[in-house]
Amino acid sequence: MQKSLLFVCLGNICRSPLAEGIARKLAQEYRLELKIDSAGVSSWHINEKPCKNSIAIAREFGIDISTLRGRQVEYESDREFDYILAMDRQNLEDLLELGFSKDKTFLVGDFGLDGASIPDPYHYRELEGFYKIYEMLEECISCFLKQTFKKW
Ligand code: 4NP
Repeated sequence: MQKSLLFVCLGNICRSPLAEGIARKLAQEYRLELKIDSAGVSSWHINEKPCKNSIAIAREFGIDISTLRGRQVEYESDREFDYILAMDRQNLEDLLELGFSKDKTFLVGDFGLDGASIPDPYHYRELEGFYKIYEMLEECISCFLKQTFKKW
């Protein structure tokens, strides 16, 4: 049975679409067949493209996330996905409050980053902060995939 992961942030336009793109790239590299998706806790950016800095940074690393569109997390996602990875502590709290299962809902930074939150980059004007976000996400998603699915 194909395993599935859902990345969740607040708006689903900056961090989680970038996380989705990075996870797709790493899963391909590691030859893992996974269902990968992302969503936001809020309804603020439904059907919007990822923010331009996330599109630009992903593109620099050879990943196209420009076709992704914002959506709001649904309660059914708890049944639909095996792993739900929140970007920051507030996102995690919101998901648990919505009734998501504790045994499959984690902070993405629990993997390889000692429980650090991925900072909300919405107000960064410059691309600069997005390099940091990219680096953090690549580190923890790589760690998560290896730890969870690869036996090497
Ligand atoms: P994201 O970033 O949660 O990484 O998609 C944000 C996007 C929009 C807002 C906040 C964070 N906002 O306040 O509209």
